[in-house]
Amino acid sequence: MKILSVVGARPQFVKLSPVAHALEAAGHEHVIVHTGQHYDAALSDVFFSDLGIRPPDLNLHVGSGSHAEQTGAMLPGLERAMLEHRPDWVLVYGDTNSTVAAALAAVKIHQPVAHLEAGLRSFNRRMPEEHNRVMTDHAADLLLAPTAVAVEHLRSEGLGERTVHVGDVMADVLYRVRDAGLAHGPVPLARGVGAGDYLVATIHRAENTDDAGRLSAIVDALAGLSRPVLLLAHPRLRDRAAAAGIALDAGAITVLEPQPYPRLVDLVARSAGVVTDSGGLQKEAFLLRVPCTTLRHETEWVETVELGWNVLDGDLTDVAAHAQRPTPPATDAAPYGRGDAAVRVVEALTGALRS
Ligand code: UD1
Repeated sequence: MKILSVVGARPQFVKLSPVAHALEAAGHEHVIVHTGQHYDAALSDVFFSDLGIRPPDLNLHVGSGSHAEQTGAMLPGLERAMLEHRPDWVLVYGDTNSTVAAALAAVKIHQPVAHLEAGLRSFNRRMPEEHNRVMTDHAADLLLAPTAVAVEHLRSEGLGERTVHVGDVMADVLYRVRDAGLAHGPVPLARGVGAGDYLVATIHRAENTDDAGRLSAIVDALAGLSRPVLLLAHPRLRDRAAAAGIALDAGAITVLEPQPYPRLVDLVARSAGVVTDSGGLQKEAFLLRVPCTTLRHETEWVETVELGWNVLDGDLTDVAAHAQRPTPPATDAAPYGRGDAAVRVVEALTGALRS
């Protein structure tokens, strides 16, 4: 079997890692195409090297732009790569502009396409990720769902027959990295910050960064916390804060660069909690059993909330109390699987080819 994976943004490199390993272990041919949506080394190259993924076979170098510019710029190069390689499956990941561009390019040339992380919904139609997910799911031939809730969403949209519940490959990679100690020893903390006594924060979603009033309220809430806050600053956050004249290194906040994945896992594992708007980090906090506060009105990862490990505070009403709440009751629930999702992805791809 020949698979052509399309990736472009940071969380997709993380998801690619266990899939690439599982494809290789099963002896399948794998072509990796990078759209170039993320181009900074800290958001891209370091993930390939740290997570043991060989460099992409092709990089389209599309870079930044408006949604239309970025998505449109990807289409011709993706189509050419698909026509050149004619894989059995184009595999697209998650919910970024790279995902929807690849699904569109594939379906137009009758190229079978599978969507990994299908069926997630926030039901917030203002999020670019929500458009990307819905359109990708309806274009794809095979829907690889990470959770039982995602399967239900797909069924209710009439897509049940194309759906396979495989689990979440982000659990696979997290367990592997945690168990291998790939951070090469504990990450040194900022001066005056002790293990177990700090919070890890990330903010990058357009809905939080692109409105200066909202961004300023979020920074004030983080700055006012009584524990040190390590803010891992995505380029979008730095850009928008600078443009709005908002200083990020205020009060309790120490600003750090975005971290390579193994260092992020180490930092979160030793933290007292996470404050974020990232989907991946909500789950990583849960899997590492660290309380999470999510600065959004909704989440795709509802299991983390139902199990008590994640609290949504989209209105920023009580970030301090949420972020400093005690650890919830222990649970051995595994809504994201037990670390074998990538093997099940490969089985689902192979099985759907035969049928
Ligand atoms: C994208 C995804 C989002 C995902 C996130 C992970 C879309 C619509 N959004 O958001 O779902 O959670 O990636 O990080 O696809 N920039 C750089 N260097 C880079 C990449 C971007 O400086 O390597 C800057 C751009 O100039 C721009 C901003 O970051 O100002 C936004 O980048 P973009 O890739 O469009 O979206 P993200 O916010 O990263």
